[in-house]
Amino acid sequence: MKKIAVVPGDGIGPEVIREGMRVLRLVNEKRSLGLEFVEFGWNADNYLKTGISMPPGAMEDIRQNYAAVYLGAFGDPRVPDMKHAADILLGMRFQLDLYVNYRPVKLLHDDLSPLKAKGMKEIDFVIFRENTEGAYVGMGGNFKKGTTDEIAIQEDMSTRKGVERIIRHAFEYAKLNGRKSVCMTDKSNVMRFAGDLWLRTFEEVASEYPGIEHFHMFVDALSMQMIRMPEMFEVIVTNNMFGDIITDLGAALQGGLGMAASGNIHPGRVSLFEPIHGSAPKYAGQGIANPIGAILTAAMMLDYLGNTDAAQEIEKAVVDVIASGETTADINGKLGTIAAGDAVIKLLEHNA
Ligand code: IPM
Ligand code: MG
Repeated sequence: MKKIAVVPGDGIGPEVIREGMRVLRLVNEKRSLGLEFVEFGWNADNYLKTGISMPPGAMEDIRQNYAAVYLGAFGDPRVPDMKHAADILLGMRFQLDLYVNYRPVKLLHDDLSPLKAKGMKEIDFVIFRENTEGAYVGMGGNFKKGTTDEIAIQEDMSTRKGVERIIRHAFEYAKLNGRKSVCMTDKSNVMRFAGDLWLRTFEEVASEYPGIEHFHMFVDALSMQMIRMPEMFEVIVTNNMFGDIITDLGAALQGGLGMAASGNIHPGRVSLFEPIHGSAPKYAGQGIANPIGAILTAAMMLDYLGNTDAAQEIEKAVVDVIASGETTADINGKLGTIAAGDAVIKLLEHNA
């Protein structure tokens, strides 16, 4: 028995996670995967009511007793500093040491491409974002705050260990998945100290993988090339902040934020899976959010847990519903969230 913590979160989070859960429960039963789901109501409502983001001991419980966390989205206009999101999402990334942020960019139907003349053949790569360091460590501070002489310092922190393990993960992934190249992207022409560490480490790790090509690109140029020539990328590895930015761009290449899945992973340990999109408060409660990102995230989680066949079956069902147009409006369909979930469920039931 493997325990999965389910945290639906805020906004459209609960709506899309409900669909992902229907898929997970069905597949769990059909294939006797032995997964047990435990739901946690850690979200903005709970934070506003109780003043706490996660109860004491919860992180340790997750670390010791769970195989994975399936998470919706965080963000609520009533919590403008996103304190609960930082405590829960960034808290898990840091405290569970989930150093790999895995974000595939795979177009599932030519019609969803936002680019002229670029389709499924061209848009198919993965991004590995370092997930425990960089500008996200919260080092820095304000001096003379509130005065005209105010100074703000925000540090960008990289360690040799942190840089090496994410780069190595990218090469290992390329090797195991038959990818031909790894691109490391940064801004080493300006951020020289971190850039130097990243570049040196990249070259050293690359030399251990002679069968895999490697190249470096500045992140501004890479952003342009993701649009002009996405086919040049197979595996991209980068730091936390650049990874945050280019993965939203990547989601747009897949047909929008509603389509994109992600994993926050520490190989071999409890890891966290979440759709890339945010809580989208303005769409919450309307039943129109696209559940595909959440459903593909569920598939990614199953794959991580070793249930590759189940994951592939779900991905195939998603590809099929997109092809038949049984989708939400953001990807040219006419269905609401639940009906779009039904379409996937119907195919999975049919396969039984
Ligand atoms: C993401 C999000 C988060 C991030 C926010 C919600 C803190 O944008 O997962 O990409 O910046 O990492
Ligand atoms: Mg982001």
